[in-house]
Amino acid sequence: MPKLLQIKTSLFANQGQSSQLSDAFVAAWQASRPAAQITVRDFASAPIPHLDGVGFQAFLSQPDERSAEQQATVALSDTLIGELQAADVLVIGLPMYNLGVPSTLKSWFDHIARAGITFRYTANGPQGLLTGKKAYVFATRGGRYAGTAFDTQTDYVRNFLGFIGISEVEFVYAEGLNMGDDSRSNSLAAAQSELARIAA
Ligand SMILES: Cc1cc2nc3c(=O)[nH]c(=O)nc-3n(C[C@H](O)[C@H](O)[C@H](O)COP(=O)(O)O)c2cc1C
Repeated sequence: MPKLLQIKTSLFANQGQSSQLSDAFVAAWQASRPAAQITVRDFASAPIPHLDGVGFQAFLSQPDERSAEQQATVALSDTLIGELQAADVLVIGLPMYNLGVPSTLKSWFDHIARAGITFRYTANGPQGLLTGKKAYVFATRGGRYAGTAFDTQTDYVRNFLGFIGISEVEFVYAEGLNMGDDSRSNSLAAAQSELARIAA
């Protein structure tokens, strides 16, 4: 039974364009895999807190050395990592906010990057441990940035996922969503047709 983990990062929860595109992808993907198990994390309704120094220190410490607060941080991190380890497919809704990724996505990244669990250091540099997965990213933007220096998201997200071992990453873009009705509807229609193609 294939497993899919869907991450929604839009401020607007299910109303966000990135959430709606990723929902459409998940529905199309599930249609041909009815037994699939889907897990959804919506960071608008349940944001991942910022990782602070006390929390990071918890990752480096032994279980019996951790305060109650540190135990809670590690428990959350373990849960998030467990969801990702179990998944065959990762789906991320990725709005552009102020020229970057949503801060909640960064917080999730900070909780799932754990040395010895999701990556390890080797003589040849870091090695990702979450191999054998495929990721799909639905990137929504008010403007148009793909292929320019203003696209701070694509390389960053691809590099982070690669760092933890997820090297097969496919992006679907819906750009120009705040550049008039035609731009918006054409862009969304193109993204819908692309997501239907890759979900098959
Ligand atoms: C707080 C905020 C910041 C934004 N910053 C940018 C930006 O820097 N560049 C851009 O092209 N669009 C920007 N937008 C527009 C969003 O990228 C666009 O509305 C997109 O559809 C958001 O995805 P969502 O609907 O899934 O949240 C911003 C929107 C918000 C709410």
